[in-house]
Amino acid sequence: MSRHRIGIVGTGGIAHAHIQGYRTVAGDLGDVVAGCDPDADRLAAYCDQHDVPLRFSNASDLIDSGEVDIIALLTPPAVRAEVIEPACNAGIHMLVEKPFGERYADARSFTEMAERAPVKMAINHELRFNRDVLALRDAIAAGRLGDILSVVHDHYYDRRNTRGWRADEERLEIAIFSIHVIDRIQWLAGVEPVAVTAMTRHWIPTVRGESFTALTIEFERDIVGSMVSSWNANRLPECRLRVDGTAGSALSLKDQVAGDSCELLIHTDDGELERLDMGQENAFVTSMGESMRRLLLAVDSGSEPDHSARDNLKTMAIMDAAYLSASRGGARVEISEVTA
Ligand SMILES: NC(=O)c1ccc[n+]([C@@H]2O[C@H](COP(=O)([O-])OP(=O)(O)OC[C@H]3O[C@@H](n4cnc5c(N)ncnc54)[C@H](O)[C@@H]3O)[C@@H](O)[C@H]2O)c1
Repeated sequence: MSRHRIGIVGTGGIAHAHIQGYRTVAGDLGDVVAGCDPDADRLAAYCDQHDVPLRFSNASDLIDSGEVDIIALLTPPAVRAEVIEPACNAGIHMLVEKPFGERYADARSFTEMAERAPVKMAINHELRFNRDVLALRDAIAAGRLGDILSVVHDHYYDRRNTRGWRADEERLEIAIFSIHVIDRIQWLAGVEPVAVTAMTRHWIPTVRGESFTALTIEFERDIVGSMVSSWNANRLPECRLRVDGTAGSALSLKDQVAGDSCELLIHTDDGELERLDMGQENAFVTSMGESMRRLLLAVDSGSEPDHSARDNLKTMAIMDAAYLSASRGGARVEISEVTA
């Protein structure tokens, strides 16, 4: 199989972690051959730094060039349809940065477009692929915790210096950050979400959107998900992910979700407490590479990637339901209301 030719659309901040990750983890499957960004200085600096040969100032020219068979779409959330539709029509597979779209309805129409084309489309929730989360998923799949009762994931850090396009986003904390946390909760719960209750606060005066979220997610089989995520934790950053089941408990502790050091505790009813070092060098960059690697393997085998567009509709529905609930003062919102 020849190596895939990847084009990066949006050569901004996160594009650096992507290319490093791809080259570290997925280099045998493909490489970045093209960059695309309307900001000529950013494009040139990026392509020079990472030795990317082809440069395009707009996505249509990149798509029409026939030089790539994979696009990594790494632009702000407002730039999705203008790239996804022509890329689908050209048979180009895509890794799309989160959030998949601004609303659930956008995400559903992109998913249907990709499935009709057909092309493989994955959403970059790379934080699923951190070692602790993969180990938790394995423990759950092996039945070590019994039937899952609750997945609780809280994250506290200081993001009061938010600026750039993020400062203008009406949907901020959930859409731009804790959508990752929600995605992990729904992936570990492993069943369909049913309803959401949420409360948000706008505690950073220099940004438009919310900076604090507390929410609960009701899943099928009575499973409960819960999350507190704050950008206003001035001190004591913390990332905690806890799964409790009928036969045991597991707890992952880090100081922030993208950090390298991590301890995972697993204690089953019939076993000793296990303390597992889940630390990983360059965990963030490595998980970016893993996200692309899984997409490329899915393209080669014709299978669906774990982080497929279709799977992400659950995450996007929870996000829309959370915003609706918050707008109603924390009232319970059925998922069917936002997916109808
Ligand atoms: N998965 C993660 O952990 C993670 C982390 C950070 C950011 N992100 C996501 O990545 C995306 C980009 O974030 P960022 O921090 O890199 O932003 P950024 O502002 O640093 O970079 C975005 C780039 O996109 C370019 N761009 C804008 N419109 C374009 C268009 N039509 N065609 C091509 N390029 C265009 C901009 O010029 C800019 O260079 C967002 O969706 C964000 O939520 C994900």
